[in-house]
Amino acid sequence: MKILVINGPNLNLLGKREINIYGKQTIEEILQSVSNKYPKVTLDYRQSNIEGELVNYLQEANHAYDGIILNAAAYTHTSIAIADAIAAIQTPVVEVHISNIFAREKERHTSLISANCIGSIGGFGPASYELAIHYFNL
Ligand code: DQA
Repeated sequence: MKILVINGPNLNLLGKREINIYGKQTIEEILQSVSNKYPKVTLDYRQSNIEGELVNYLQEANHAYDGIILNAAAYTHTSIAIADAIAAIQTPVVEVHISNIFAREKERHTSLISANCIGSIGGFGPASYELAIHYFNL
């Protein structure tokens, strides 16, 4: 089982950024703990602050992975390009958010990508990533 985790803008700052919302763990720590629990899963990771690069990662991952876990961060709420990329590929994508976007500012209540994803997991802190991996291992 090969899974690609893709993180969007500002998620390179996890562990330092608004720790009251996103927690103290870095993405390396989060993915390490997921890998420990799912040793048979090959987990690759990409992050970009640039919308088009996220589109490229999605296109490149098509057929190369069994699943994609995508935290598109702020682009979740704005990006038709990322929504289109998810629709264009066959590899299933699970949308992930660390915070509960529906409990936050109004502009975060809309996801342009949800409808093109298998499902959406959010609000469980860093465990949101683990729950998404769990889905692919059901
Ligand atoms: C986020 C929620 C988004 O609204 C925000 O822009 C992020 C992170 C989350 O993981 O909770 O950068 O996707």
